[in-house]
Amino acid sequence: MLLFRVILSFFKQQLQIRKTRNYLNRTYGANSTIYTTKIGKNVVLGNSWGGVYLADDVDVRDNVSIGAHSYANRGTIIFKGSTIGNYCSIGYNVSIGPPEHPVNFYSICPDAYRLEGVKSICPWPEDDIINPVVIGNDVWIGSNAIILQGCKIGDGAVVAGGAVVTHDVAPYTIVGGVPAKRIKDRFAPDLKSILLDSQWWNHEKEWIVDFFQKLHKESSNITKIDKYD
Ligand SMILES: CC(C)(COP(=O)(O)OP(=O)(O)OC[C@H]1O[C@@H](n2cnc3c(N)ncnc32)[C@H](O)[C@@H]1OP(=O)(O)O)[C@@H](O)C(=O)NCCC(=O)NCCS
Repeated sequence: MLLFRVILSFFKQQLQIRKTRNYLNRTYGANSTIYTTKIGKNVVLGNSWGGVYLADDVDVRDNVSIGAHSYANRGTIIFKGSTIGNYCSIGYNVSIGPPEHPVNFYSICPDAYRLEGVKSICPWPEDDIINPVVIGNDVWIGSNAIILQGCKIGDGAVVAGGAVVTHDVAPYTIVGGVPAKRIKDRFAPDLKSILLDSQWWNHEKEWIVDFFQKLHKESSNITKIDKYD
């Protein structure tokens, strides 16, 4: 049984990347772990700050860019052109920037609205992905969330499990529900500004450790959300 599991895990593990690599029009940051085989063209997975973790069955479409130290769990689909920052945590079965259909046309089905002789009268572009999603850094997206095309999710924001995001989300805001509404801010304005100004997600690990330790020491002088919201 153990041998069977070892053999199975060997075949399931598609890529363990130690050094930054470019091949087949894809960039892989150092220390990436990629279980999925569903990766499109012109995809950037990680950068000079580090790699990414993509679970089995994550579907990464063409022209997607995912920053260093970000991960996506099983069943997540990241549609064409989406941009995801560094240190993002993406749950299970999340849908990022899915295609839209022309709701005002006589038929909503591509097999009808793309028929020869029909597509000329259907005001819908060839490509269903018109406005890719842009996700900042250190964003957490809960399982089964859907982020609709054109939405921008600010740095440090949280999208609750099952949310449908239809509008931009401000940095360090927690949103949830269908359609997603603000639940609360993660931090008071002063701490939010310190974190945003620091851009800690673009620094080396040593810098980040030092920065968090200093913040922790000074925390009594920084307003926390429980004193604010
Ligand atoms: C939003 C979330 C992060 C909780 O944040 P929190 O600060 O602990 O929030 P609380 O539990 O105090 O809830 C605050 C309010 O948000 C509501 N809320 C919590 N989760 C919600 C959700 N998924 N959708 C809608 N509303 C939600 C609560 O009911 C509560 O409302 P109330 O004040 O009217 O009672 C968490 O509920 C969540 O969705 N986690 C995602 C888990 C996940 O999918 N993990 C995947 C692994 S990466």
